[in-house]
Amino acid sequence: MSSSERLIGVIGSGTMGAGIAQAAAASGFTVKTLDTKPDLVEKAYAEIAARLDERVAKGKLPKHDRDDTMARLSVASGYGDFAHAECVIEAVTEDLGLKRNIFKELDKVVSARTLLATNTSSLSIAKIAEGLTHADRFLGMHFFNPAPVMKLVELVQGPQTSDQAMVDGRAICTKLEKTPVKVKDSPGFIGNRVNRPFYLESLRLLETGEGDIRTIDAALRKVGGFRLGPFELMDLIGIDVNLKVTQTVWEDFGRPARFTPSPIQQKLVEAGHLGRKTKRGFYDHSSNDPVPAYEGRLKDTSGWTPTAALKAFAEMIEKPAERATWLYARVMLAVINEGAIVADTIALPRDVNLTMELGFNYPQGPLAVADGIGLDVILNLMNEFHREGGGDDRYKPARLLEHHVKAGELGEKSAKGFLHHWL
Ligand SMILES: NC(=O)c1ccc[n+]([C@@H]2O[C@H](COP(=O)([O-])OP(=O)(O)OC[C@H]3O[C@@H](n4cnc5c(N)ncnc54)[C@H](O)[C@@H]3O)[C@@H](O)[C@H]2O)c1
Repeated sequence: MSSSERLIGVIGSGTMGAGIAQAAAASGFTVKTLDTKPDLVEKAYAEIAARLDERVAKGKLPKHDRDDTMARLSVASGYGDFAHAECVIEAVTEDLGLKRNIFKELDKVVSARTLLATNTSSLSIAKIAEGLTHADRFLGMHFFNPAPVMKLVELVQGPQTSDQAMVDGRAICTKLEKTPVKVKDSPGFIGNRVNRPFYLESLRLLETGEGDIRTIDAALRKVGGFRLGPFELMDLIGIDVNLKVTQTVWEDFGRPARFTPSPIQQKLVEAGHLGRKTKRGFYDHSSNDPVPAYEGRLKDTSGWTPTAALKAFAEMIEKPAERATWLYARVMLAVINEGAIVADTIALPRDVNLTMELGFNYPQGPLAVADGIGLDVILNLMNEFHREGGGDDRYKPARLLEHHVKAGELGEKSAKGFLHHWL
């Protein structure tokens, strides 16, 4: 390796490892990838070459860029190849014991300057790092799928991760042309946690007969501007995959009521109705025009009228104060509340927004939505939902939300809310 080369080691050449290797090589890093067998890495590289060839054929990538990227990729023969790497990114199967063993081996061979990163989605950074000599250089680097395309990386700081390691991690992300956000080690990090209520509140609305799946999906798309509604999205991701994330976050936080998995989702998984991949989930996907496959009991909502708090909310988003707006508010306020708890405890408000926009396709980050509407308007409606819900923790206003309203920091209209704004 020449002294000008910057080496990134990748461990695991599956979906994420291959994507990370491609992104790193495309942005100028020399990349060595290790898997259980060299053939697996060779196969992953052949798939990268095929993807790049397709882009060359379409005129989207110059041939010499394709060749340079491929020339920077090689197969590692063991951990020793990573001794002088700038960073080693582990992307093996989600298994604590396996990841721990890998870092124990790496710890013995890498230089004191090498960053050690895990791409885990759900495991504790602290637990993976237990017993490492280089625990100060160990951090989470959570990429999103497909890694060459998605701009977001959650940089996760464990209890022993040094500030310098976070700064170095950020520099690597910048060279990779990614947008890093910083978060303290905590279940679901930012995105998978703040996004839970998007699904869970929609599922509760369905369970309690407040709306059917088509109506709730349409409300989130038409009122909220989301590309897909929650049920459409669960069918796309896989209902089993989505349920697993909820179960992990719920268990790891000690089973708080607001993260309780939905019985509807559990029943669909037990029945093998997992979404598009099994042709049936919330919708029946056997034709090009999916039709609802889940019929719940519907409440009679003919006598429903909007409250003053909902009317104020609707006015601010310039939508009629009708059921669709109420359905959207129920979901969005739960997301905003979780975002506010996260912004109060483990991440910056700006990073909460960036995560949801870049990693989860939100039309606008939840804290920016709240600031635009006005935090006083949000708090009023939140209190109303909290009372109606019998006082559980779902709409119990986050401390940070109450703090801003008390301080007169109401969002865009007062130049400060969760974020700073131009007047
Ligand atoms: N798939 C996603 O959307 C996604 C997104 C973000 C993060 N993640 C996380 O990334 C990690 C990898 O996920 P994936 O979807 O790429 O999995 P995958 O199953 O596609 O790939 C895992 C790879 O790890 C290899 N492997 C297993 N044991 C190994 C060992 N001892 N040494 C070297 N390689 C080994 C396997 O052979 C396989 O190639 C997981 O921690 C997952 O939680 C996944």
